[in-house]
Amino acid sequence: MGLDVVVGGFFGDEGKGKVVAYISLAYKPKLLVRTGSVNAGHTVVYRGKRYKLRLVPSGFIYPDAGLRIAAGALIRLDVFWEETRRLGVLDRIKVDANAGVIEEKHVEAERRDALLSSEIGSTLQGVGAAMADRVLRRLRLARDYPELKPYITDVALEVNEAIERGDYVLVEGCQGTFLSLYHGTYPYVTSRDTTASAVLSEVGVGPKKVSNIIVVFKSYVTRVGAGPLPGELSAKEAERLGLIEYGTVTGRPRRVAPFNFELARRAVMLNSATEVALTKIDKLFPEAKCVREWDKLPREARRWIEDVEDKIRVPVTLVGTGEEVECMVDRRREVGVV
Ligand code: GTP
Ligand code: IMP
Ligand code: MG
Repeated sequence: MGLDVVVGGFFGDEGKGKVVAYISLAYKPKLLVRTGSVNAGHTVVYRGKRYKLRLVPSGFIYPDAGLRIAAGALIRLDVFWEETRRLGVLDRIKVDANAGVIEEKHVEAERRDALLSSEIGSTLQGVGAAMADRVLRRLRLARDYPELKPYITDVALEVNEAIERGDYVLVEGCQGTFLSLYHGTYPYVTSRDTTASAVLSEVGVGPKKVSNIIVVFKSYVTRVGAGPLPGELSAKEAERLGLIEYGTVTGRPRRVAPFNFELARRAVMLNSATEVALTKIDKLFPEAKCVREWDKLPREARRWIEDVEDKIRVPVTLVGTGEEVECMVDRRREVGVV
């Protein structure tokens, strides 16, 4: 089955957590790999329980998957222990020896940084400061911490060997295309390249090993923190339309704009998307709530999705219809991508 990678197409918070969780339950990966860092909060709602995740791969609800954290990722020890214990996944989680470790001093440095805190609207989790230390070759890595020893592995090797054996591997990107350090709205971006190629590089797997590149778009656009947001709605208008959300990590209200075809086309290009997952269709079409079959979606919703497909020229294979992982229309077999 090869390797699939899931990335965000807008400014993060498109619902990658739920998409990864759904794909994990439906397609049963042997390995699930998380990239990025603790500034990215993913939410998974499964059987009525709401899980907030900052490091553990979102597909952990599929119990047979090995959980991995990529070499390019940055962990925080307190978050790692709290989250793995809370979720009971210590017996199947492993961290690449080369993953970076954020220390308290990185968090403090960001809190003191006026550009990050007042201008950029950083989550101030120390990620950028640790990344800067990494570039300067002074960051400590997972392999430098004896307490992590039982959990250390070579993720790149495991992933490449798994693909060789014919196993299915799922890689979870985080944040969104336009928060990319290279391709986003600099300087209002995060401290890494968030696009599919960079996510693969974080894991240590080359582009020829990839089967599907799934770009996730929400049915509208949100952005948390500063920076341009074309077509931004007033808070009042967003409220009236029922589109107000709050950040998973910071609790800040997210700014809202309508679906943006221009950005979506560019995200398709930057990531070479082979499929698109469109989440939160139930927010635009309430009768779509938790529908699981294409034919049962309201007619206007189907038309709207087909219009998106026509304009971005990539099949919409997954349609999110509610918070619960199982609220999903899956057309991947019908479209022929699996
Ligand atoms: P980042 O890596 O931070 O970009 O996160 P993310 O893409 O995983 O998104 P996040 O979980 O932060 O926010 C998405 C929110 O939408 C969560 O609260 C999800 O439970 C919710 N959600 C995801 N898909 C759907 C959907 O199809 N319908 C509804 N109603 N909610 C959804
Ligand atoms: P930092 O990466 O925490 O320094 O934040 C830089 C910018 O990226 C800010 O605008 C943040 O709000 C945004 N950002 C970082 N991570 C996420 C995420 O996971 N979802 C949405 N926005 C994010
Ligand atoms: Mg998020």
